Amino acid sequence: MAERVCPWWLGYFLASPIRRLMQDPEKILSAYVKPQMWVLEIGPGMGFFTLPLAKLVGERGQIVCVDLQSKMIERLLKRANKARLSGRITARTCTSSSLQIDDLSGKFDFALVFAVVHEVPDTKTLFSEIHASLKKGGRLLVSEPTGHVTEEGFHTTLSIAQSMGFSVSDSPTIPRSLSSLLVKK
Ligand SMILES: C[S@@+](CC[C@H](N)C(=O)[O-])C[C@H]1O[C@@H](n2cnc3c(N)ncnc32)[C@H](O)[C@@H]1O
Repeated sequence: MAERVCPWWLGYFLASPIRRLMQDPEKILSAYVKPQMWVLEIGPGMGFFTLPLAKLVGERGQIVCVDLQSKMIERLLKRANKARLSGRITARTCTSSSLQIDDLSGKFDFALVFAVVHEVPDTKTLFSEIHASLKKGGRLLVSEPTGHVTEEGFHTTLSIAQSMGFSVSDSPTIPRSLSSLLVKK
């Protein structure tokens, strides 16, 4: 059962630069995200990972963000504008039951779902939609906060992802998180 969705105002804390001391986006993502890539980010909040992702893909790459809450998306786009990165970032809202990304089937090289899965009511649909959006061999980094998710809960999440066509390729160490790098078979 999904927990309550993160209130929009918490997005300000999640996007705080102080968080970088514990979870440095470039350090976490630079091994997976390269220039010209297309990246899907689910539940970006106000864009703590989005702006570093946009820098990593460069001028010819693209980040597509999908979040349930329009307030998160509005703030994310303001931050992207200010950082002069909005040309590489597209953002849209979705419903709690679907990401509504059927039009983006097979487009992405990499997807990120950071501190989001425990808020989503239907994990099967979530992984199935992300799977369809990735290219074959595309990678997905799933990370869940240890304060909200037990090891057993994370194991269940990974089992669901595997049943939807992902295989586990690595278990990166990210502070205060349970994390796994998955590959679309
Ligand atoms: C805890 S925040 C994490 C934000 C960001 N990933 C980070 O690590 O800073 C969870 C985010 O997921 C979004 N979210 C929750 N349920 C969702 C769903 N079903 N589909 C898309 N986004 C969702 C929330 O609106 C919120 O922006």
